[in-house]
Amino acid sequence: MTTTILGIGGSLRAGSTATLALQIALEAAQEAGAQTRLLDLATFPLPLFDGTYSLDGYTLEERQVIVTLLEATRQARGFIFASPTYHNTISGSLKNALDFMELLKDDRSPRLEGKVVGIISVQGGISGTGNNTLTTMLLAARAMRAWVAPTMVSVPGSREAFDEDGLAYDTIINQRLRMLGTEVARASTMFATYWPAG
Ligand SMILES: Cc1cc2nc3c(=O)[nH]c(=O)nc-3n(C[C@H](O)[C@H](O)[C@H](O)COP(=O)(O)O)c2cc1C
Repeated sequence: MTTTILGIGGSLRAGSTATLALQIALEAAQEAGAQTRLLDLATFPLPLFDGTYSLDGYTLEERQVIVTLLEATRQARGFIFASPTYHNTISGSLKNALDFMELLKDDRSPRLEGKVVGIISVQGGISGTGNNTLTTMLLAARAMRAWVAPTMVSVPGSREAFDEDGLAYDTIINQRLRMLGTEVARASTMFATYWPAG
């Protein structure tokens, strides 16, 4: 069974290191047999979630973007969230994307039930400053009924951490990002087998 892993994240900044980290993990997920899709928030013009359970308040173009996110979320069995650390927590743009998933609350498998999520943070500071960013994503994923992969990666000093090919200079960070991608690919295949989506 081939499962789809949806990578969501990045900052809106050109050259986002959260996107670079996400791409490394997605590549490993693909090598582990999954189909992957990157939803780069820099090029995905989601409006702000308005807190309603209706699309009535959005323009036609905005609705198309929202529906694309919701359909990609429904089809994926695994996810990798990657966020920059902003003021010790996740970016507003990632949180906004996650909030739209509330519109899946009435699906037979609501929100992210029976799905697997891997999480990555990047930060300007030293090791450890991205921990709260990871914890915030972990708690959000669990609130949406997802199962979080055990490997979580936090990239310190991220703007200086990647070479021109998009690989981390620190081989341990590359390995951990790849381990995370592999875990999400394998676990989402197991979940897809034993926990069919509605
Ligand atoms: C608004 C803002 C707040 C930030 N807050 C923190 C912070 O609390 N801790 C930290 O280590 N880095 C912080 N940073 C640095 C970013 O995490 C860092 O530049 C990171 O590389 C940004 O991710 P990106 O490369 O995907 O854009 C902040 C940056 C911005 C723009």
